[in-house]
Amino acid sequence: MRIASIVGARPQFVKVAVVSRALRQQHEELIIHTGQHYDYNMSAQFFEELDIPASDYHLGCGSGSHGAQTGRMLEAIEGVLLKERFDAVIVYGDTNSTLAGALAAAKLHIPVAHVEAGLRNFDQAMPEEINRVLSDHLSCRLYCPTKTACRNLNREGITCGVELVGDVMYDLLLQVQPNLALRTERLLRTFHLAPQSYALVTVHRAVNADNREAMRGIADGLNRLEMPVIFPVHPRTRARLEHYDITWAKHVRLIEPVGYLDMMALGRTAYRILTDSGGLQKEAFLLGVPCVTLREETEWVETVEAGWNILAGTHSSHYFAPRLII
Ligand code: UD1
Repeated sequence: MRIASIVGARPQFVKVAVVSRALRQQHEELIIHTGQHYDYNMSAQFFEELDIPASDYHLGCGSGSHGAQTGRMLEAIEGVLLKERFDAVIVYGDTNSTLAGALAAAKLHIPVAHVEAGLRNFDQAMPEEINRVLSDHLSCRLYCPTKTACRNLNREGITCGVELVGDVMYDLLLQVQPNLALRTERLLRTFHLAPQSYALVTVHRAVNADNREAMRGIADGLNRLEMPVIFPVHPRTRARLEHYDITWAKHVRLIEPVGYLDMMALGRTAYRILTDSGGLQKEAFLLGVPCVTLREETEWVETVEAGWNILAGTHSSHYFAPRLII
C-alpha cells in the first residue's frame, strides 16, 4: 500500500518514529510535515534523535489562531493528497495537524487511520478534545491505546474498525530505554542534581499558559517545593510568561525545551513529574515516576486509577502529592 503519515507537532513525531519503522517493512510510506512546530528543538531534533525518515513534504504552515493554522494546513495537505495517490492516510494524536489531515483525506475519500484514537477527557473547551472527537469520526481505522478508549468510541456509536493495539509511545520508550542511563548521568551532572531529589515540570496547555492566574498558582506551588525544579519551557509558555510578572524562586530552573531522549533521561530519576501534557503523564507512569497533573481532568484515567497520578489543577497544596507515596 502507499500510505501518507501526517505529522506536525512534537507528540506526533514520537509516534511516527515507531509506526514509520514498522510500516516501511511492508509498505511505501511518505511523511507529510505540516510545519506546526518549526523550532529546531521542537521538530528537527526529534527527527534526528529518533531516526525518523526525513519528511517528503514540509508544508511550512507555522503558528496562528486555530482557524488560520488549521485552514492553512487543510489547503496545503489537500494539495499533496491530490498530487500523490495514497491508499490510506494515517493521523496521530489530537493536534490541529491531526484534524487537518483527517479532514483533508476524508473529503477526498481516502481512508483515514487514527493512531491514539478514542481518548476523551470530556472537556469541549480543550482544542485537543475537539480535534480527537472530529478525527475519530472521520476515521475508518481507529487504533486505541487503552480499553477505555475503545469504550469511549463505542459509546459514540463508532464500532467499526476499532482495534485495541496498545501504545506506540510505550514501544518507543522500550526501544530507547537501554541507552538512557548514561544520558541521565550526564544531565544530572550538568544540572547538579541527585537522583530522586528533584521535580521535572512542563506546562504548555492553553488552559494554563494563557491564564495569568493559573500560571501564578503553578509558580507559587513550584516556588514552595523544597527541591530543585527543572522546567523546560515550551515557546508558547515562555512568550506568555513575559507578560505575567512572575518571580521564580532560585531552585526553579527555567530551561529551553529538551528533546525526547533528554526528557526521558531526566524523567526516569525525578522524584515527581508535574505536567499538563497528556503524553508526559503516561510516560511518567511507564517510567515508574509518580505524576502530578496540572489539570482538572485527564484522558489517561488509568494512571489515576492505578494511583500513580493525581489531578491537582493549579492547586499548589496538592503538589506535594501526599497520596502518591507508593
Ligand atoms: C500543540 C498541540 C498540543 C500539543 C502540543 C505539544 C494543538 C491544538 N495543540 O500545542 O495538543 O500537546 O502541540 O507541544 O494542536 N511555537 C514556537 N515554535 C514552535 C512551535 C510553536 O515558538 O516550533 C509557539 C508559537 O508562538 C505558537 C505557540 O508556540 O503560536 C503555540 O504553538 P501551537 O503549535 O499552535 O500549539 P502548542 O501549544 O505547541
